[in-house]
Amino acid sequence: MQKILAIYGSPRRKGNTTVLLDHAVQGVVDAGAEVEKIVLRDLKMSPCLEIYGCKETGRCIIQDDFQKVSDQLLSCQALILASPIFFYTVSAFTKILMDRCQSLWVKKYWIDKVPYDQRNPKRKGLFISVGATREKKLFDGTLLTVKYFFDVLDAELWRALLYRELDFEGDVLKHPEYLQEVYEAGRELTSVI
Ligand SMILES: Cc1cc2nc3c(=O)[nH]c(=O)nc-3n(C[C@H](O)[C@H](O)[C@H](O)COP(=O)(O)O)c2cc1C
Repeated sequence: MQKILAIYGSPRRKGNTTVLLDHAVQGVVDAGAEVEKIVLRDLKMSPCLEIYGCKETGRCIIQDDFQKVSDQLLSCQALILASPIFFYTVSAFTKILMDRCQSLWVKKYWIDKVPYDQRNPKRKGLFISVGATREKKLFDGTLLTVKYFFDVLDAELWRALLYRELDFEGDVLKHPEYLQEVYEAGRELTSVI
């Protein structure tokens, strides 16, 4: 059975991205795949300490919850990452995960010596994000960050679903069309892996 990883990046348990990701997860489940959920705020995960203990093996040497998450990241067929926009980038919880994946970058590009320009993604990634404002460039920087994060995981940025003008908990519930869109994306993602 296909396995899809759902990564919850908001500090809020019932925030807008959480509600959206729950609907995407329901789409995946209804389409018949297995979902593993990772709620980043519940994990003990240090930021990257930049000690390059991963240099020999590609495995991060900091012993915390990242060890399990890294195995999950590498054993899924697709992932769905949901993060709110905080200061034009992802949440701190999400960024900590991304930076810890530098160990996987080291494995890929330093140890296995995969050429930088060789793209052979075997996973698909869906990114869901929201911000409070209607700024034109609200998601620009984040999309670049997510694209290269996914690249380390051999995942292509298959789709990004981005919603402006959602701020307070529950705001997204006023937009059933957003909930429907992420649900359908979860179903579709399952059908393309
Ligand atoms: C620390 C912090 C930084 C934020 N920075 C931005 C920002 O740069 N642009 C924006 O439009 N909204 C910003 N917001 C608003 C959130 O993106 C918004 O409240 C969003 O709905 C939160 O999503 P969540 O409910 O899934 O956590 C910020 C909120 C916080 C708490």
